[in-house]
Amino acid sequence: MTIDTDVPALEVRGLRKVYQQLVAVDDISFVMQRGEAFGFLGPNGAGKSTIVKIITGLVRPTQGTARVLGRPVSDLEMRKHVGYLPELPNFHRWLRAQEFLAFHGRLYGMQRQTLAKRSAEVMTQVGLAGREQQKLGTFSKGMLQRIGLAQALLNQPDLIILDEPVSGLDPVGQSDMRNILLQLKAQGTSIFLNSHQLADVEVICDRVAIIDKGRLLKIGPPQSLFDEPLTLEVHVDCANAELLRRLGAVSLAVQQDEQHPGRLLIEVQHEQQAADIAAAVHASGARLYLLKPHGRTLEDLFLHTLGASH
Ligand SMILES: Nc1ncnc2c1ncn2[C@@H]1O[C@H](COP(=O)(O)OP(=O)(O)O)[C@@H](O)[C@H]1O
Ligand SMILES: [Mg+2]
Repeated sequence: MTIDTDVPALEVRGLRKVYQQLVAVDDISFVMQRGEAFGFLGPNGAGKSTIVKIITGLVRPTQGTARVLGRPVSDLEMRKHVGYLPELPNFHRWLRAQEFLAFHGRLYGMQRQTLAKRSAEVMTQVGLAGREQQKLGTFSKGMLQRIGLAQALLNQPDLIILDEPVSGLDPVGQSDMRNILLQLKAQGTSIFLNSHQLADVEVICDRVAIIDKGRLLKIGPPQSLFDEPLTLEVHVDCANAELLRRLGAVSLAVQQDEQHPGRLLIEVQHEQQAADIAAAVHASGARLYLLKPHGRTLEDLFLHTLGASH
């Protein structure tokens, strides 16, 4: 089967999942294009994993439809083009790393030679080269995440679905994971990412959806989701009256730190106004030490959005 590159990577319409009385997913719709990196953000219990389980065919929705690479989720041929790293991988502890990959390779219907070649490649890619004969039961949590990723990449998927891939990884492992995902993205792989690591989502994802209590609250490129004006943090050697007057003229508001008078928070409408701020500092004769966006991380957005919905 060849995958039509015109069809969306994921197409979800009116998805709903009710467990007994609990509404885990409530009328979720979105389309993710091919080559896109799409992030799902939400607190524990928001319904993220349930959605992943629906699109990987592990859980049946109560209502709604999901299509993956243009096919229904039950399509076995389509699944060969999709890599999946589950939230808490529960792998067979008695298998050696190489046996584990061979097992999955056979499920994908891979030929022996291709499998051997790809196994070596993915083990290197995830930083586990040399561990081929080690049993999964002796792997650390971080190593299990890595071998899980190796398994998800084995068949060179067009779409990779990752559920909290950096949980259990140390900072080096998190950075490795981020780099691998950026590399995949550069190669044109579509990425669906559930994560609590907001900084990673911000770096990797073209678009983000925020969900809480099964409902989709916001969707869009990370930077477009902020509806407040932008705040810039500015450090100068000396904030005199002349500087404050000039800054006031090119911004919406200027706030001076009482403890450190050289530190200012400046509200502007657009990022481009940073240039006006720098010019105002120079014109007043002050020295500019630092100029950066303040409090405009995805984390702020996340907390703000959830706060507004409660
Ligand atoms: N198999 C299940 N049976 C009953 N309730 C479930 C089941 N799986 C998930 N839930 C509930 O559905 C809600 C969403 O869970 P989940 O999708 O795992 O959230 P997330 O991945 O965002 O943390 C939670 O309240 C969870 O307890
Ligand atoms: Mg989850």
